[in-house]
Amino acid sequence: MSATVRAALPADLDKLVSLLDAEFIFAKGRQISLARRYPSVYCPENAKNIFLVEEEGLILSALAAKIFDWNADGRGCRGVMIGAVYTQTKRRGEGLASQLLAMASEKFRQDKLEFAVLWTDQPGFYTRLGWIASDCGMLGKMDNDGRATTPSLAVGKIPLESLDINRIEAIRRRWSSAYIPRRSENYSQLPVPADTMNLLTWGEGIETAGYAIVGGRGETGILYEMAGHPDSFPPLWQSVSQAYRHILVNDCQGSASHRWLSRIDRLSWQAKPLALWLPLNIGMADLPHNYIPYFDRI
Ligand SMILES: CC(C)(COP(=O)(O)OP(=O)(O)OC[C@H]1O[C@@H](n2cnc3c(N)ncnc32)[C@H](O)[C@@H]1OP(=O)(O)O)[C@@H](O)C(=O)NCCC(=O)NCCS
Repeated sequence: MSATVRAALPADLDKLVSLLDAEFIFAKGRQISLARRYPSVYCPENAKNIFLVEEEGLILSALAAKIFDWNADGRGCRGVMIGAVYTQTKRRGEGLASQLLAMASEKFRQDKLEFAVLWTDQPGFYTRLGWIASDCGMLGKMDNDGRATTPSLAVGKIPLESLDINRIEAIRRRWSSAYIPRRSENYSQLPVPADTMNLLTWGEGIETAGYAIVGGRGETGILYEMAGHPDSFPPLWQSVSQAYRHILVNDCQGSASHRWLSRIDRLSWQAKPLALWLPLNIGMADLPHNYIPYFDRI
């Protein structure tokens, strides 16, 4: 019987998520389903942007996508991010994932999206299909071994359910040259490796305030984003850096937070260029800015 290549239906989601969880979450020693981590991806409304290969009721291969708006360098554009590209072990090498990527790209091209982007540590699989590597992502690392740490985040911690999203979004717009507008479900994302997520704020209003998005996994804290007035950076960083034994920072070369954090001696940096791009209805040279925050990725 021949395999069918198609967009997912809401009824496919349970089976699909179990398969993808086994590969991308549990096999890597992580907890918490992709459905909880990326609620705006693995939901009935977004099923049409998930593609799969099915044979006799079994899902052999899949990928998930999410359409997003990007305001960068003063102009808006619309793209699609792709994640969880997967083929069942026994069926690898038959061209299934390549076929799904081609189908998804063609559909999104026809939908007039300008570009597709994904993040991978296996670029070779995608570059042979025309994807182009470009990323100014940086990963910072710091260990607090031997130093006292405070047991919890100290500054302005807000439970995400009582977050004033409009204010945080206003601070982002005021201080960021490139950003993806977020709605409440986007603030519910729980990107790996975090098991918990907190938002810290400092200051009043918008002009003089700042915030940090901080994930936690055991003794490791992950600073996914720190933005706002530069006066907010010292107290926000102090709170994050004292709350965990190990700190990871996701940032991009040249951002205001990266420039400020680069002055901290104990924080060491390495380039983390994970993004690959596929121009759809735009030239690669016309992509306005080539960094999408880790917190927004799928
Ligand atoms: C990566 C993956 C999706 C490929 O699926 P697949 O259906 O086997 O892919 P295809 O059959 O379309 O393509 C296979 C081709 O890609 C090549 N390929 C696979 N992984 C590669 C890699 N990491 N780097 C370079 N080439 C790679 C194979 O050598 C093969 O080449 P060939 O056609 O010249 O023989 C699959 O191996 C998988 O599910 N891996 C585990 C999950 C994962 O890591 N996903 C990627 C997350 S970014």
